[in-house]
Amino acid sequence: MKTYRICLLPGDGIGPEIIAEGVKVLDAVGEKYGVGFTYEEALIGGIAIDETGEALPAATLAAAKASDAVLLAAVGGPKWDTTDPTRPRPEQGLLGIRKELGLYANLRPVTIFNALADASTLKPEVIDGVDLLIVRELTGGLYFGERERFYDEEGAGEDGGNGQRAYDTLEYREYEIRRIARHAFEMARKRHSKVCSIDKANVLETSRLWREIVHDVAKDYPDVELSDLLVDNAAMQLICRPSQFDVVVTENMFGDILSDEASMLSGSLGMLASASLGDGVALYEPSHGSAPDIAGQGIANPLAQILSVEMMLRYSFGMQEAADDVLAAVTAVLDAGFRTGDIKQADTPEDKVVGTELMGSLVAERIQPTEKFAELWGRHPDDWKDYRAN
Ligand code: IPM
Ligand code: MG
Repeated sequence: MKTYRICLLPGDGIGPEIIAEGVKVLDAVGEKYGVGFTYEEALIGGIAIDETGEALPAATLAAAKASDAVLLAAVGGPKWDTTDPTRPRPEQGLLGIRKELGLYANLRPVTIFNALADASTLKPEVIDGVDLLIVRELTGGLYFGERERFYDEEGAGEDGGNGQRAYDTLEYREYEIRRIARHAFEMARKRHSKVCSIDKANVLETSRLWREIVHDVAKDYPDVELSDLLVDNAAMQLICRPSQFDVVVTENMFGDILSDEASMLSGSLGMLASASLGDGVALYEPSHGSAPDIAGQGIANPLAQILSVEMMLRYSFGMQEAADDVLAAVTAVLDAGFRTGDIKQADTPEDKVVGTELMGSLVAERIQPTEKFAELWGRHPDDWKDYRAN
């Protein structure tokens, strides 16, 4: 039997709760498709800081490198929030592992599940036909540039301040732009042959380089239509006419911001999965954070984590059929009316509002039914009948 080694990084907040559901779904897939998944858990983020003093311990990096794929949940929380640059932050774990594994391409698909069409804050006619993929550059730009905080005697005393100064550096190299652009064009070929490159070329030098290189790469893809948008305009277009986009490619920080915005097209950040790819081991994680406010309550939405598993099957293991199966199972569970709190609609009956564990089980059991299947759906005998009939 083919066996894959998966490194699990639950992290903080709701992380441990949702990753358990991802594993449940992987196990169901393994059983159905005769593939083995073994798991090794490691520390990252706030919990890693508490236990080892570092957000990305060497043992975690080693475990990730020795695996066939990494499944991460989320990092961070108020406990570790600090503006003191000398103290470790959970986010360093995430940025660190992306850099160390060379995960320069972050894919964030935004698809609308019909059942959730009215869960979005946008009008149904606006989100109709939305199917876009954000390709975010993940290991360059502002998040990895040189930065510093220091005292500047000149400014000291003015307005009673101490003259503190800080800077971050935004830098891109040609090869970083070339490889992410290629990735975007390749993805577009498998989709609807359109790439929209987002920059701020009217102001930033890095953006002007970005635009030139993207256009140069485009020469190798005459079958793909390329357009450019300035990031401020893109932020507006994303909520007024989102269906115009197919593949969107952009630098690290713009991608960070625009992907949170785009997630609202699908109703909740709790639905948005992501894949971070490089030349070696890939990492899969929800696009959302650790939601410390609801951690430990069993109510978090595990679907972004589960959809990250779907992406893992697709991109790391080439298991297209199994990936389609996971997607179909999520769709079916939503079609059957089940909702976690974040995606519940005004007309969702109380008995259809489910917690993290039940949501995960519903998906897993749809993929590979067990005796528990009947028991699960026994809570809702009527839906169970319809569901089975499918
Ligand atoms: C994301 C997150 C991270 C990022 C943070 C937690 C460092 O917001 O994955 O989008 O900015 O990349
Ligand atoms: Mg973000």
